[in-house]
This record gives sequence, C-alpha cells and structure tokens, in this order.
Amino acid sequence: MSKEKNTPKILIINGPNLNLLHKRNKEIYGGANLEKALNDCTQLGSELNLKIDFRQSNSEGEIVTWIQSAIDEFDGIIINAAAYTHTSVAIRDALEIFEKPKIELHISNIFKREEFRQHSFLSDVVDAVISGFGIDGYTIALLGLNNLISDSK
Ligand code: DQA
Repeated sequence: MSKEKNTPKILIINGPNLNLLHKRNKEIYGGANLEKALNDCTQLGSELNLKIDFRQSNSEGEIVTWIQSAIDEFDGIIINAAAYTHTSVAIRDALEIFEKPKIELHISNIFKREEFRQHSFLSDVVDAVISGFGIDGYTIALLGLNNLISDSK
C-alpha cells in the first residue's frame, strides 16, 4: 500500500472571528494568530504522518457542509466552533453524524468565563474537549486525535 493511503486525514475547523484571533483580547487568547496554529499543526502532522486540512469560516452553514462532506473523506475532526459552540444545534447534529474520532477545542478555558460560554452544544457528541491551553491546544488536540484514531483501528 502506498504511504498516502495509510495517512489519516484530519479536518481542523475554526469558527467565526478566529481569522482575527491576533486582534482579540490578548489576556484571553494570548495574542497569537491562527497561522501559528496552522503551522504548528502542519509540522506535527508531518511528524505523526497525518494529512492536515486546516480551515476557518464565519458561516454556520459552511461549517455544517464541511462536516457533512468530511464523513466519507476524513478520519477525524478537530473543531473550534468559537461562538457557534454556544448556539448551534445544526453543528451539533452534523457532528453527531460523523461517527469517527472528533475533538472540541477552545483556546480559552470556557468554564472560567461568562456563564453563556459555559454551555456547549457540542461537548456530549464529541470524544473529548480541550479548553484553556491557549494556542497550544491545537497541537494537544492533534496528539489526542491521533491516539484516538490509532486506538480505533
Ligand atoms: C473560543 C471560546 C468561545 O466562547 C468564543 O466565542 C470564541 C473562541 C476559544 O477558542 O476559546 O470565539 O472557542
């Protein structure tokens, strides 16, 4: 079998306003830009032999469509749904259909923040939640997802 065939494909989805991460509250988000997360994940992905597809959208419908399309195309999902975490039944329902390893990710510790952020529509339909490690959460999630994928084989 070719190496490419054995390379798990990972979809990393970023929700609204994460394209402007570097302009958001530094005390909460640490000042890094999303490109750092992309670069870190690309580097770790090549060390772990994972193919990374890293995306950002401000549109709920587009994120739902990406998750639907991932069902046949990807081996695992990491999603930072940003504000949609706290509002979107549609993203929850799409994630429920994706029956492979999936991780919910937040840069900040959502449980230390406003009450409205402390409820996630996604947490009970994913395998794990990572919250509060700053931008490093992306590579922590990728390591965890890689383990879940290996365990599921
Ligand atoms: C976030 C937390 C959400 O509450 C917020 O709306 C975001 C980012 C995080 O990564 O910490 O946009 O998902």
